[in-house]
Amino acid sequence: MDNFTWWRDGVIYQIYPRSFADGNQDGIGDLPGITDHLDYLADLGVNAIWLSPFYPTPDKDFGYDISDYCNVDPRFGTLADFDRLVEEAHKRDIHVIADLVLNHTSDQHSWFLESRSSRDNPRADWYIWQDKIPNNWQAVFGGPAWTFVPERGQYYYHMFLPEQPDVNWRNPEVRKAILDVVRFWLERGVDGFRLDVFNVYFKDDQFRSNPSAWGIRPFDRQKHIYDTDRPELVPLLKELRALLDSYPERYAVGETFISTPEKIIQYSGEDRLHAAFNFEFTHTTFNPTRLLARILDWERVDREHNIWPTYVLSNHDVPRPASRHGFGEDDARVKVMMALLLTQRGTPFLYYGEELGMRDISLKRDEILDPPGKLYWPFYKGRDGCRSPMQWNAEANAGFSTVKPWLPVHPNYVQRNVEAQRADPKSVFNLTRALLHLRKEYTALRRGAFLPVDSASQDHLSYLRRSEGETLLVTLNFKNRPTRVNLPSDLHGGTWLVLFSTHRAEPDLLNGPVLQPYEVCVMRRL
Ligand code: GLC
Ligand code: CA
Repeated sequence: MDNFTWWRDGVIYQIYPRSFADGNQDGIGDLPGITDHLDYLADLGVNAIWLSPFYPTPDKDFGYDISDYCNVDPRFGTLADFDRLVEEAHKRDIHVIADLVLNHTSDQHSWFLESRSSRDNPRADWYIWQDKIPNNWQAVFGGPAWTFVPERGQYYYHMFLPEQPDVNWRNPEVRKAILDVVRFWLERGVDGFRLDVFNVYFKDDQFRSNPSAWGIRPFDRQKHIYDTDRPELVPLLKELRALLDSYPERYAVGETFISTPEKIIQYSGEDRLHAAFNFEFTHTTFNPTRLLARILDWERVDREHNIWPTYVLSNHDVPRPASRHGFGEDDARVKVMMALLLTQRGTPFLYYGEELGMRDISLKRDEILDPPGKLYWPFYKGRDGCRSPMQWNAEANAGFSTVKPWLPVHPNYVQRNVEAQRADPKSVFNLTRALLHLRKEYTALRRGAFLPVDSASQDHLSYLRRSEGETLLVTLNFKNRPTRVNLPSDLHGGTWLVLFSTHRAEPDLLNGPVLQPYEVCVMRRL
């Protein structure tokens, strides 16, 4: 492949380590479990894995509260297991992305234990301390963002749980210590990072109160202008990028908190992050007109600013696409969304189990583990639903573990699992695999222009992906009825080859351009 850049031309697969595969049979997924399944990922056709946090953690936010940045939680394995995972992944041409949570640590991190102990210890200024609560800032997971510590007679700031104190990025020693963490993982062979809520690292230096806004949770009843997106951030991103660029082909993708195109423009580019997530597909309804409008908004922004786009259907924080769009166990709509994701111009991110159309589990109140779910139930049931164990086969616990897993397996695992879907040519798995392999084969799918056709249609979404010498046509029927695709006259005639279709083998779209209900079809003009 010409000039293939893994993070730009490849597809990235997110693994929630706790839920992927249990190597030592204690009910919790781990790094050796992942290593055991690298052949599966290589065969599926992904180019990189992003591992949600595997560092030591008291688990208040399931790993997003880190108590030691340069180690592996014993439940997930050891540093040696990590090295082996990287080595085995690289053998299969799979790159490894680590998740860095650098806005806050766990309250059990030695930095915080020291910082909270007195007003004059060496790390006294490593977190954000105030004598009085200075403003109206709220914590995302509920309650005020300031918590009192009697030892210091002061309050510290936390954007998330009280057990997740925000570090003081303005302190040069903190900055150095954190950049050393980045270097530590680069030296261990990590190919890139996903940066958790990177745009909240800096808060207003004067601690001004946020103006109010309309919303349901107290956190949403404010405009977040003083606790997020401060001007000190961009110089830090440049420093971080320079560090990454001192190693070959390293990558950083940011999780923009309260994401907008303007923020993405500001934070990504040649001398800052390689990419920042675009979350539009996680909350747009199953509607071709709306989805196309979102794609075009971001296409324009990314093109004008020379930023490489990203697309995701879901992650460990939102309901799975199959639960949002599927009807019962029917996968027709799930396949349409998967095909949409994998035929975009931009880097697609897959979330583990999405390739099977895994559904969210539903839990009773006393089974809920996720802190915001406990707090806001029944209005919001938290994020456990999309974190259930990977469904490998029809054996006990879906082949994830021989013992009871940390979260229940979805009861549909008996039918919906890797083994069953591999054997079924019509499965979501086989659609995903086929499209991943097509992406490898056709430059037009990876990098070609995105050109909508018949875009006034309310029923289908169709577009060309075109690069020099290659024209591909993607047609997706969003309706449970046949629909006609009106192709522009310059596309009439010529021979078309069906590269993939959920329904047909013959390239008959041009003579009678009718798509079957929920048909996905990718063709190539010969
Ligand atoms: C990010 C993570 C989420 C976590 C939060 C706090 O949004 O994706 O899972 O709870 O940051 O670290
Ligand atoms: Ca385990």
